[in-house]
This record gives sequence, C-alpha cells and structure tokens, in this order.
Amino acid sequence: MFDTMTITKTAGALIGALLFLLLANWAASAVFHVGSSASHGEEGEEGHQQAYTIEVPETGEGGEAAVEEEIDFDALMASADVAAGEKDFGKCKACHKLDGSDGVGPHLNGVVGRAVASIGGFAYSDGMVEHGGDWTHDALQEFLADPKGVVSGTKMSFAGLKDPQDRADLIAYLETQ
Ligand code: HEC
Repeated sequence: MFDTMTITKTAGALIGALLFLLLANWAASAVFHVGSSASHGEEGEEGHQQAYTIEVPETGEGGEAAVEEEIDFDALMASADVAAGEKDFGKCKACHKLDGSDGVGPHLNGVVGRAVASIGGFAYSDGMVEHGGDWTHDALQEFLADPKGVVSGTKMSFAGLKDPQDRADLIAYLETQ
C-alpha cells in the first residue's frame, strides 16, 4: 500500500517534470521562431548563405590548386634543380637502383619516357600493370605525388612527395640517369 503510493507519487512527479520540460521547450522554440521570422529573418538567411559561400570557395580552391599544379608543372620542370633532385632521390634509394639492377622496386635509370611496368623479370602489382602508358613527366609527377592514390594496389610503399618542386627536381635528376 505504502509502496504503491510511493510509486504513484514518484511517477506523478516524473510525468509532471516531463510535461514542464516539454512545455518549456515548446515555449522556447515558439519564441525563437517568432524572433527569427520577425526581426532576425533576413539575418538568419544571410547566415545560411554565408555558410554555403564559405563551402563553395573551399571546393573551388582545391580544384584550382589541382589545376594550377598541372599547368605549372612544365614551368617547374624548366626551372628544376638536378642537384636537389639527386638529394630527393635519397628517399627512393632504399628500393630503387640506377645501375640497371632491381631491388625492392625496379631500376629507375631510363625511367623517364619508359613504358609503365616494362622491366622484364620484375614482379609488378596488377595495379601497376593496369595503370599502363608511359612514364611521361606528367605521369611521373602525378604518381609520385600520391603513389597509392594514383595506382591503387601498388606495391610501392611510399607516402609521396607533396611539394611539386621536389617532384620536378627529382624527375629532372632521373632524366639524367
Ligand atoms: C619502400 C620501397 C620504395 C620506395 C621508398 C620507393 N619505391 Fe618506387 N617502387 C617500389 C615498388 C615495389 C615498385 C613496383 C610497384 C608496383 O608494381 O606496384 C615501385 C615502382 C616505381 C615506379 C614505376 C617503375 C616502372 O617500371 O613502371 C616508379 C617510377 C617509382 N617507383 C619511382 C619512385 C621514386 C621516384 C621514389 C622516391 C621518391 C620511389 N619510387 C620510392 C618501391 C619503392
């Protein structure tokens, strides 16, 4: 009997509190809506537009940067620093040789202009074989920027050279080999 009363009281109190919260919530949102549709209506919309305006240039910038890189690459190649490229090749040495013998990766002497995955006896990944084409400046710089992104499933465990000038220097160096 006492227990039932306690339960009833507690339940009543809980429901009361819930109802109060619901009402308070409803009242708050009603005030907010009135406020925003009356005096802050335009501001609110501008706020939304700004949110979109911010997003658009971000995408645009990314696209522009990518395009710029492609367009600039010939210029970067023209002013490439072979000595700097030789230094950058230090990052490749663990896997690539320049004396015609293959290591973890295929030899890279003569790689500029060479057909992709064309070294007989080297076990290329399927991804590299499917990539196809020739190692032109563009193909090389694209691959070296993001090996795994450009040739999916490549066996080359290398994060990539983020700086386009480094890629240009390196390709210029490889071209001398
Ligand atoms: C951890 C080892 C490793 C490092 C470091 C590495 N590579 Fe590779 N590279 C490989 C392997 C393995 C392959 C074969 C990839 C495949 O078959 O998917 C490869 C393939 C290549 C190819 C394609 C060659 C062909 O015959 O088609 C090029 C070009 C290349 N690497 C350039 C570079 C350059 C430039 C660097 C340094 C910036 C570098 N790699 C760093 C392991 C490496």
